[in-house]
Parts: sequence; C-alpha cells; structure tokens
Amino acid sequence: MQIVKRNILLNPGPATTTDSVKYAQVVPDICPRETEFGDLLEYVSTELTQLVADTKDYTTVLFGGSGTAAVEAIISSVVRDDTVLVINNGAYGKRICEIAKAYNLPLLEFTSPHDDGIDLVALENTIKKSCQKISHLAVVHNETSTGLLNNLEAIGAICEKYHIDMIVDAMSSYAAVPIQMDKMNISFLAASSNKNLQGFAGVAFVVANRKKLERIRDNKPKNYYLHLYEQYQFFCESRQMRFTPPVQTFYALKQAIDELKEEGVERRYQRYVKSWETLIKGMDRLHLNYIIPKEHHSKIITSIVEPDCSGYNFNEMHDYLYDQGFTIYPGKFADSKTFRVANIGDITYKDIEDFLSILESYLQAIGYPFAKEDA
Ligand SMILES: Cc1ncc(COP(=O)(O)O)c(C=O)c1O
Repeated sequence: MQIVKRNILLNPGPATTTDSVKYAQVVPDICPRETEFGDLLEYVSTELTQLVADTKDYTTVLFGGSGTAAVEAIISSVVRDDTVLVINNGAYGKRICEIAKAYNLPLLEFTSPHDDGIDLVALENTIKKSCQKISHLAVVHNETSTGLLNNLEAIGAICEKYHIDMIVDAMSSYAAVPIQMDKMNISFLAASSNKNLQGFAGVAFVVANRKKLERIRDNKPKNYYLHLYEQYQFFCESRQMRFTPPVQTFYALKQAIDELKEEGVERRYQRYVKSWETLIKGMDRLHLNYIIPKEHHSKIITSIVEPDCSGYNFNEMHDYLYDQGFTIYPGKFADSKTFRVANIGDITYKDIEDFLSILESYLQAIGYPFAKEDA
C-alpha cells in the first residue's frame, strides 16, 4: 500500500483519515442495487445506531449528502402543526432556525450566549410560558462555531418533563463525545461520515427512535429527497437507498467504523482530549486566548482570539501553516475576531506540538510580542 501524503486537517471536518480508510474506496465497480451492497448498508446503519443506542429501539436512516441534509431531513419531516423550540447559541443553532423558517414551520427561538452554558431555568420558563404548544426542541450538541458543548442530559430531562421530542445535531460530537440517546431522551439525532468517524464526506444520517419514527408516517411531505419516513421505509423494504448512494464513500465508511470499533469511542475521545490539552497549554505559552470556558468546552474544536499584532493577517497565517501541511479554519462570527483549530481525525498530540511550533515561528516572523505580560 503506497503511503499517501499526510495533511493535518485542523479544520472541523472533513478530518484527516487513515490510509486504510482512503484505500477502502478502491473496490470493484458495483451497482448499489446488488445484495452485496445492501449488506454493506445494513452493516453501516446498524453500527451507527449501536454507537449511541440499542438497535431494538433505535434505527439509522442513511442519506447521500452533507451533514445539513440530515438536520434538514429531521426538521422538515418531524415538525408538524406544533412549535419547534430551537436553542440558538451559535452558527449551527442559527442554521436550524433558518431551516425551520425555510419550511415555514412554527418556530420559537431560544437565544443563549455563544460563549457560556445555557440558562436551564430560563429555558424551562420559556417552555412553561409559551402560548404555542411545543412538540419538539432542537439543539446542537457541540457548537462547532465555538467549541461550546451543550448539556444534553439536562436539556433532555426538561424535554421529558414537558413531553417534548428532542432533536440533536450531533455533527461534531458523534463518535467522540459519548452519547446515550435513551438516557439523554433524544428522539432524533443527526450526524455525518466525515468528522469524528474519520470517514469521507458524502453520507449524512439520522439515528431515530423507532416509535417516534413510526409516528411521522402520515405527516404531509414537505420535500422529496429528504423525506425521512420514505427513506426509512424504502430501506426496510429493499435494503437499498431511494436514490444513488455515494458508493465508494460507504466502503470507506465501513472501514472507518471498523477502525473506530477497534479504538473505542471513549479512547478516541481521550486521544482528542490529549491533543486539546496540548493545544491549550500551547495557547497559554504563546499568550493566545480562547473564548469558551473549560467547563463548557467540548475539547474538540477551539475558537482562538486572533493575535493582537499589526503584522497579523489570517490568510497569511493560514498559508504559512498550509505550506507546511497544516490546515486551520477561520472564525464563524463576524463580530468577534477569532480563528479555529479542531483536534479531530487521525492525528495525535504530537501533530498539535508540531502545529504549535510552526505557529510560534509565524508569530515570531510578524513580531508578535510574546513576552508582553511577563515584562
Ligand atoms: C454542528 C454542525 N451542524 C451542521 C453542520 C453542517 O454540516 P455540512 O457542512 O456537512 O452540511 C456542521 C458542519 O461543520 C456542524 O458542525
């Protein structure tokens, strides 16, 4: 097996993959309507469910598409006449609101600071005081725009108390931060193949509570491709996807799942946390600040305040790092000057150490005053 040039992707997905995942795509051509491919889809679907729930009560519906497809499939398919309450405390919470608006769904927005934990009392009061009947609550687990980790267990308990179905966008937490759908009272969860799963982009999926899924059977369709129940039913009947799947991406995903099973979700998360701790120590050493307090941090992606230095320019810093094999990501908020570093994928703390020393040499080159506070 020829070694592929290794790039360290510090963007929040698609993440760095192993060469074995890359090569798993190289398979004999196959029609995705063949039984053999159906076996593969069934394996992938079952394993994706097992990572977060019991297959007796939950199932995974697969789509060809990016992660947003899974979020949109849930929102457009499950919300009917009653209101969806959306927690908006970052760019991806805002996106869920935008999806609800695009479908003209009854929406109640709960805005919360993007750099602090949710006020659960205020959330509960919003539910109690609402004159609209709230049937669903949607929340992002790890707000990838900042690294803020929302407390699913506490939000799930509120949902249980008020008989609300909880929808979770777990795009950047799934397969790293442990999730137990049953215990956390999650009815529908969205994720994709290319972040902590360490597979390729192209597969979006919904893990759903089977009973809740059955209840949407008669919902009036609001779209075609993203119709959650149709996709589920078609797969149950045929073990095929309704439309052409990203065939080779599925082979790579199977390999990625097998590698995840070998490592284990908890060990994978520990590896990520070690990289994050290395990053944070480095930030302290370089006198750079990050915006999310440790107790609310996912330890998966960090939003770092841009260096206060006249020679600084994000694009130049990006290019300096990129030339040496490291890809960083711009910030997501127009009003706060940040850039982002994700520590997911097939990388270790040693890669983060290498990143930090290149970052340090960039900062030296632009005359960044490291020793300002020590003087
Ligand atoms: C929390 C969250 N939701 C949704 C998305 C959208 O995923 P995609 O860009 O694959 O559509 C992302 C992407 O980073 C994300 O982090």
